Amino acid sequence: MSRFYVTTPIYYVNAEPHLGHAYTTIVGDALTRWHRLLGDDVKYLTGTDEHGLKIQQAADDAGKTPQQFTDEIAPKFADAWERLDIANDDFIRTTEPRHKAAVAELLQRCYDAGDIELDTYSGKYCVGCELYYTDDELVEVDGVAECCPIHKRPVETLEEENYFFRLSRFEDRLLDWYAAHPGAMKPDNRANEAIGLIKGGLRDFSISRTSLEWGIPLPWDPDHVTYVWFDALTNYLAATGFGDPEQDYTDWWPVDYHLIGKDIVRQHCVYWPAMLMSAGVELPKGWGIGGWLLVDGEKMAKSGGNVVNPLDLIDTVGVDGFRYYVLAETPYGSDGDFSYEGLVGKYNSDLANNLGNLAARVATVVAKKCDGTGPAPRADSPLAAAAATAYADTVRGWDDVAPSKALDATWSLVRATNAYLESNEPWKAEPGPEVDAVMGDALEALRIVSILAFPAVPRTAQAVWERIGFTSDIAEQRLPEAAAWGAYPGGLTVTKGDPLFPRIKL
Ligand code: MSP
Repeated sequence: MSRFYVTTPIYYVNAEPHLGHAYTTIVGDALTRWHRLLGDDVKYLTGTDEHGLKIQQAADDAGKTPQQFTDEIAPKFADAWERLDIANDDFIRTTEPRHKAAVAELLQRCYDAGDIELDTYSGKYCVGCELYYTDDELVEVDGVAECCPIHKRPVETLEEENYFFRLSRFEDRLLDWYAAHPGAMKPDNRANEAIGLIKGGLRDFSISRTSLEWGIPLPWDPDHVTYVWFDALTNYLAATGFGDPEQDYTDWWPVDYHLIGKDIVRQHCVYWPAMLMSAGVELPKGWGIGGWLLVDGEKMAKSGGNVVNPLDLIDTVGVDGFRYYVLAETPYGSDGDFSYEGLVGKYNSDLANNLGNLAARVATVVAKKCDGTGPAPRADSPLAAAAATAYADTVRGWDDVAPSKALDATWSLVRATNAYLESNEPWKAEPGPEVDAVMGDALEALRIVSILAFPAVPRTAQAVWERIGFTSDIAEQRLPEAAAWGAYPGGLTVTKGDPLFPRIKL
């Protein structure tokens, strides 16, 4: 059995979970559900990033201690993920002892390797990014000079005696490593951006603060606490037991995919692999870099006042309607524009009119023409080739961390089956072997569709599975065997039930 370990970014707890956070978390959930279907032993990690100036300030504003504040917000993320049917295997908080132990271990290894040194630094710092910027990276916003290119707010000038991580030493090693591992970062256009950052030249970065209390102390100099990104990135190792002498972290490490947004590529694809090289830890096998879901062309952010709460949307389109939309609408890696109209449009076309309609009409015809008992498919059905192509393309889509491609491939079988029914019109024919053959084929296609669609729309997949007569848990199906044409046994009771996706009026 192969192991498959996937992570999301750990989310800052200065804001409540929003659509942008839900996006990456749903991609990770679908990808890991796919790998469970393949029979892999899966570990899916998400969590919360709880240290640093940004959180301390948010706690101050709320009149709470940082610990009280984070203790209140972190569960909101866990709850939101539960309501979105996220099947994470672990949820890490950076305030946990296991995380602190891993950070101390990683820091000590880099320090012992001579890659962390004390120095004085003065620079322009964005608290929103928790990053220093160079002058040429800053932008002017509405006549205000020296603003952060991401947050569009003025940066602060900070001068500190800090420990520095000697990132500049890793330029060639990183380029060599990426050259030897083509395709590790997906998709290609995002990978090229990351390589561009390295080729643009790497500057040492400060990894400690004396002015901050809310963080993890450096093991060799406890007057300093760790810079939030050094702290945060280590969560991925902490969850494998790194830093715990009782555990062998290489049982799960190296990670298969870090799923991240395009705004945190520098930290994940430049800082992190260099830190790991320094510490003598293997590098990740892959990174999946997503674009942003924009609202009216802007990144969603608390400060922008355009925050969309995913939990409000599931009341309208259901959990699966929402999951399907975020996975299928926007090609992974590109920016997408979120709109309510877009969400409902996608729901009506792909879910109500395509999948929902197919399931309903199959059940209706089987009730009328086959006494409610599903017939077996034909081995030489004209749909068998469509099913084989849909499966192969779905596999390729998930392999490429391209959910929209995987789902389009799966839905190609939904469309082919609807077209097959329309050309055969079994509802007009007399009951008999011809109708049985057509309906057996359609049921078999629905069986395969429900398995392939399960990673994206788990509840719907289980519902279709049961309506075509199975009583088992669809999550127990195993690919590729379960996608082979011909396994629908016939003789099962088919039920119609309520519409899976009632049409929504805009
Ligand atoms: N805490 C850091 C990550 C540390 S990982 C070791 C952080 N947190 S965040 O909560 O601000 O953002 C987490 C992720 O959510 C980022 O990858 C970011 O791209 C993503 N999103 C936040 N808003 C988004 C959208 N509007 N659209 C898509 N994803 C965006 O950064």
